[in-house]
Amino acid sequence: MTSFFKTTVAASAMALVASSAFAAEITYVSGAVGNAVEDFKKIVAPWEAKTGHTVKLVPMPASTTDQFGQYRLWLAAGNGDIDLYQTDVIWAPQLADHFVDMSEKAGELMKEHFPSIVESQTVDGKLVALPLFTDAPALYYRKDLLEKHGASVPTTWEELTATAKAVQDAERAAGNNDIWGFVWQGNAYEGLTCDALEWVKSSGGGQIVEPDGTISINNEKAAAALELAATWPGNISPEGVLAYQEEEARGVWQTGNAVFMRNWPYAYGLGNSDDSAVKGLFGVTTLPTGQGHDTSAATLGGWNVAVSKYGDNQDAAIDLALYLAGAEAQKTRSLIASNLPTIVSLYEDADIAREQPIIPQWKDVFLQAVPRPSAPTREKYNEVSTLFFSAVHSVISGNAAAKDALANLEDDLDDLLN
Ligand code: GLC
Repeated sequence: MTSFFKTTVAASAMALVASSAFAAEITYVSGAVGNAVEDFKKIVAPWEAKTGHTVKLVPMPASTTDQFGQYRLWLAAGNGDIDLYQTDVIWAPQLADHFVDMSEKAGELMKEHFPSIVESQTVDGKLVALPLFTDAPALYYRKDLLEKHGASVPTTWEELTATAKAVQDAERAAGNNDIWGFVWQGNAYEGLTCDALEWVKSSGGGQIVEPDGTISINNEKAAAALELAATWPGNISPEGVLAYQEEEARGVWQTGNAVFMRNWPYAYGLGNSDDSAVKGLFGVTTLPTGQGHDTSAATLGGWNVAVSKYGDNQDAAIDLALYLAGAEAQKTRSLIASNLPTIVSLYEDADIAREQPIIPQWKDVFLQAVPRPSAPTREKYNEVSTLFFSAVHSVISGNAAAKDALANLEDDLDDLLN
């Protein structure tokens, strides 16, 4: 072999190695609320620099319900183009078969995480996805407006209804015509399941399907909670709230046009950003309770990363998943996106406490948060949730009485589950 030939062969072999093993492009699909796309670039940059791989983010529709539908199609078709899926906390049992078991690879790392969160991603002993961040909502309130009108932070839904109306009316009388009392998520999608579970559970009406599988939703307390919420659209909330998801609520809030908002912690950092009209003007507290009840209920949310069984770059994808679930990436995410970490020690981190004080303050809130019934209903959860949010949506739109909607819902759930 001539030396020229040898060099060429060696060079092209190296190029091949570089383009396959050493320089993979990992495709990551994820919902993209807030600044998620920009934030993700910052979070993965150190991993890209260290490994020489690149990461392509494919943003998904904001609605968790729509994302789930798309993921299910791709996974059923064995799509090889997607390496990593960002998955909602409720999906593990439904999608488990399509993902790589991470229990051995992430065993050590998982010891740093809250055990309950790791447990939520474990299906029949298989670790389906690695936790990225957890979620539990807050009641956001405008300190300046409450003070101006001599109002206090409400602790019950009834007080919230009255205070939102009083402050809204007083502001409008003073010429602030765009102001609304309360913005939240009223669209018929997974987010409404979260909001309505909170109204019902905090009023003593149970959690739709109980952990032992009992269908509990058809009860008077649940009906009363939904009837109260049905008074909000067009009164303390815009009519359009019936189509709002997280981002629409945040849009109204962050332009200064709402007294109260129900939203997840991601809205905290964005609300305090330089281009926010409410920077420094708001506080956060736990959601109200139903009158006569003393426990507030926050729905447990959160996001994870799962490695596709069908992806073309499995080794690099596993490495990236481990990086994203690790302390370096979780800390960056907490600092720039005010997402709640799932690594226990980050709740003691001084930088996080200084930059995003909601995070240490929210540790107990998420630890006590109420799970949606995805564990007892397993692969049927998506249908359970769809039946629930559809029934709730018919009530809050004024198309059905809560009593009737819940009686029908009970029958439908019974047909589906029993
Ligand atoms: C948040 C939660 C997620 C939930 C979704 C509903 O993203 O983290 O668990 O399903 O909101 O809109």
